[in-house]
Amino acid sequence: MPHIFLYGPPGTGKSTVGKILARNLKLPFVDLDRVIETNAGMSIAQIMEQQGESAFRDLESSALRSIPNEKESVIALGGGALLSAENREFAHETGKVVLLMAELDTLFERLNEGSNKRPLLAGDLRTQLSSMLAQRSEHYNSFALRVQMDGKSADKNALEVQVLLGRFHLHAMGEYDVIVGKLEQIGDLLLARELQNPIIVTDENVAKFHAEKVVASLSKAGFKPKIVTFAPGEEHKNLNTISFLWKSFLQNGLDRKSTVLALGGGVIGDITGFAASTYMRGVNWVGIPTTLLSMVDASLGGKTGFDLPEGKNLIGSFHPPKLVLADPQLLKTLPEAELVSGLTEVVKHGIISDPELFSLCLRGLNWVKNNLEEIAKRAMAVKIRIIEEDPYETGIRAALNLGHTVGHAVELVSKFELRHGEAVAIGIVVEAKYAEKIELSNKGTSKVINNALRALGLPVDIPKDLPREEIVRAMRMDKKKNTNAIRFALPVEIGKVELVDVMDLEEVLED
Ligand SMILES: NC(=O)c1ccc[n+]([C@@H]2O[C@H](COP(=O)([O-])OP(=O)(O)OC[C@H]3O[C@@H](n4cnc5c(N)ncnc54)[C@H](O)[C@@H]3O)[C@@H](O)[C@H]2O)c1
Repeated sequence: MPHIFLYGPPGTGKSTVGKILARNLKLPFVDLDRVIETNAGMSIAQIMEQQGESAFRDLESSALRSIPNEKESVIALGGGALLSAENREFAHETGKVVLLMAELDTLFERLNEGSNKRPLLAGDLRTQLSSMLAQRSEHYNSFALRVQMDGKSADKNALEVQVLLGRFHLHAMGEYDVIVGKLEQIGDLLLARELQNPIIVTDENVAKFHAEKVVASLSKAGFKPKIVTFAPGEEHKNLNTISFLWKSFLQNGLDRKSTVLALGGGVIGDITGFAASTYMRGVNWVGIPTTLLSMVDASLGGKTGFDLPEGKNLIGSFHPPKLVLADPQLLKTLPEAELVSGLTEVVKHGIISDPELFSLCLRGLNWVKNNLEEIAKRAMAVKIRIIEEDPYETGIRAALNLGHTVGHAVELVSKFELRHGEAVAIGIVVEAKYAEKIELSNKGTSKVINNALRALGLPVDIPKDLPREEIVRAMRMDKKKNTNAIRFALPVEIGKVELVDVMDLEEVLED
């Protein structure tokens, strides 16, 4: 994997944010200025004083090239390290450069407080800083990946860098990376994690478009990949398919060290993850989600399972993958109706804890379609934060059920005529109206939610022909509850939900 370089003017917090980022991603952290000082055996101030800026820049260039390449690291660069075209080219060849930027006032405040005085800013700090920013403004403005650091904590800024890069490391249930990247990376990513003997499980639709690339990448990395394909659709998320997979694994000689790759939507992920969790008492698996829903939801959190004729997801296990690789380019072949259906979970994640993501959804389907990568990364970050806090759903993870209590029931009563995401969109609006009725949320909240979902082409009303009593009955059945109260995740405002026990389910459906 390429390095992550943090760059930007002095005072943006490259070292502080870099350390947090490295800790979050479980990567080594390198502070280039410290490497220079160690190599030279003196402080940067002393180098500047005794040898001048040009000698310092030479030392900086060689320090940059001395960082080992085999292991990905987070590297905080000095504020002028990439002024040289050669260094800049080197950084782009060996990693991704994220520019951390801040207003003059923020930089001044931070540098003024610090004990570590910068030789290049000697004299009146504000004047020197201002003239450095003016001189380098074209240079700093030319970096594409940027995070504005003002007014936020270092933790928040580190998370913004993660979202921008699409890089997460989960450890609450199993330990694995979630990477937004390119399908072509899969071979190298398996190698780096010492994952062996891969077999690809996919459905016929996905195989047609994307299996070849996965096979090519794995072969290039030296693997001899095998592939198993079955028919698409929820109706195949059953024990027959599981049994077919177990047998295919045996026929293909999979042993306990083999790796199962789930290439597909939520159905493939759930069923492949479950087959992997039970084959030889559990083998490694990797998620390669290919629908929006599976990228932002189903592939994250380690829940696997299959359906019984009696109901959805009745059998399952917690079996976290060893890696999730999400390539938003794969969404280009996804039928529009599936994409739109997946957007429900994006809006849901916005309502749960990311008001900015929610506002982006209000821009409508066309904008969202042109900015899918950004949308997907932000929505993934919300789910990841929640499942890291509560991996086994003993508390806050239930917030992810927003819209699902009514949604699942509507989906069932419609006899699956409505897609999951469509039914949940309706569920979100019904539940938001109820939250308003019981004065949990302010007047108008459900209207804004309604607008966002409609702008994306999602339905918001329960179809007239679906009997309300059946929906209520289905809500009770779905939650497998003996008590009368059902726990709903209800919106309090955009960015906040609360868990509320509801007795009177008829009232939830009343307009
Ligand atoms: N495990 C979890 O935490 C979790 C969370 C949410 C949902 N789920 C499960 O996810 C399932 C729904 O997932 P889904 O919406 O991804 O459905 P899906 O897997 O059925 O995929 C939808 C359709 O899109 C096709 N497809 C997938 N990717 C494609 C691509 N890139 N190009 C062209 N066609 C493509 C599939 O073949 C299928 O026909 C449900 O079974 C649900 O229970 C699981």
